[in-house]
Formats: sequence, C-alpha cells, structure tokens
Amino acid sequence: MSAELDPPEFDRHAATYDGGLDNPVKKALGDADSFIAVKARWLLRHEPGLKRDGLSLLDYGCGAGDLMRVLAGLGARGTFTGCDVSTGMLDEAARRWPAGAGSAPVLSAQDGAHTPFADGQFDVATISAVLHHVPVAERPAVYAELGRVLKPGGRLYVFEHNPRNPLVRHVIARTPIDANAILLDANEVQEGLLGSGRYELETDYLMFMPPGMAFLRFVDRALAWLPLGAQYAVAARKPA
Ligand SMILES: C[S@@+](CC[C@H](N)C(=O)[O-])C[C@H]1O[C@@H](n2cnc3c(N)ncnc32)[C@H](O)[C@@H]1O
Repeated sequence: MSAELDPPEFDRHAATYDGGLDNPVKKALGDADSFIAVKARWLLRHEPGLKRDGLSLLDYGCGAGDLMRVLAGLGARGTFTGCDVSTGMLDEAARRWPAGAGSAPVLSAQDGAHTPFADGQFDVATISAVLHHVPVAERPAVYAELGRVLKPGGRLYVFEHNPRNPLVRHVIARTPIDANAILLDANEVQEGLLGSGRYELETDYLMFMPPGMAFLRFVDRALAWLPLGAQYAVAARKPA
C-alpha cells in the first residue's frame, strides 16, 4: 500500500458512509441514493448496453458500492467489479448489496493506484468522487491504471464535484470526510487523461437542481453544457 494514501481514514467512515450527507445543506437537497442516481441515470443514457449487453464494468474507488447498487436498481445487469484502497469500504459494499439485485460485484483491494485486474479487462470503468481524495502527484498513476484495464474502445467515466459551483465549495469545506479533499475541475481531468493516453473526450455538467426533485430533471438535461452544475462527468473513449 502506498505510504501517501490513508486507507484507515476511509475505513473509519465505511460503516456509516452516506456520501457526505452529514452536511445539513446537502441533506436538504435529497437522500444519499438520489445523489448517486443522478450519475447512474446519466451513465445509463451513455451506456445503454449496461442494461442489455452484459457489459463488464469496473467502479474504481467504489467505496460502499453505492453506484453499482443504484445502477442495478435502475436495471443494469452487467458484470460488476469494484475496487478500493479501503478494505472497510469493500466490506461495506458486500454488506449493502441487496438480495435480488443480480450477481453481487466482485470486490478487490487496490495496492495504491494499482488494481489486480488484467490489461483490457473492462468495457466500461467509472471513478466517482475519488480523484479529489487522491494526492495530486498520484493522480497520473490512477489515470494510467484506468487506461490499462480498459479494453480497446472501452469507455471511462469520471464523476467529480465541480469546484466552479460555489455551493459545492461551501459543502466540501464543511464535510468531515472531505477534510483532505483537493477539488479538480473538468479541464484538469481532461488534461490528466490526455497525459496518460489518447482519448476522445466529452464533458457534461450535472446536478443543477436538487436531486430529490424528479420533476426538475429536464432542467439538468437542458443545462448539461454549462460549467456550473454541482457535479460533472468526463466521458473518455479509448481508441479501438
Ligand atoms: C467519497 S468516497 C466515494 C466512494 C464511491 N466512489 C461513491 O461514489 O460513493 C471516496 C473513495 O475513494 C477511495 N479512495 C481514496 N483514495 C483513493 C485512492 N488513492 N485510490 C483509490 N481509491 C481511493 C476511498 O477509499 C473511498 O472509498
């Protein structure tokens, strides 16, 4: 395990991990799964094959497995694999997987940025709310690892908090699990990815409206171009 990472920090948060909902501002905007579901619905629009083609998906830094669990709840039925530096989080991911949600994910511990997976193993990889916890100097190793485990033509989706949104900065500064966070904007992600490989890149901004208010989802879809959403998604396609 890399000395600079601090898996015990995340082990401590594992059993009660709820995506930072201990912050009262965030709690007022929706429940934990509603925040994850914004990303999951966006992902299913970009990867409809997750519902029908049995794609293999890696969720890197999967934490308590919430993204895979919510994806399964929305009908995704691929082969799910999660990895994390925190074994406490991985234990929690196993515990939270609901009966009847399809095959439980394979869960593997990372060694720093590195994973035990084969080159070109996955059709799709996601990394959600992780990079801001990775020390800046270690981020290139994470990008390189994600590129390694993706198949040629595979797709990587990076979801992150958007530091250009003032409410996000307010919440992150007051959320205990984010005490060591260093936020990064979508341009930094794009530059980081291009430093590690040739990708076709696109960015959408997400979460302009409170996730709990389903009737306002059309506003989010209309504003996806505007770099002020609370979250963003960088989609990266690896050359075939
Ligand atoms: C805020 S949680 C997000 C968990 C999950 N991706 C989600 O969206 O719910 C951040 C996760 O990143 C993991 N993490 C922190 N540093 C990491 C690193 N250098 N490499 C991979 N995972 C890391 C932590 O163990 C933790 O589970």
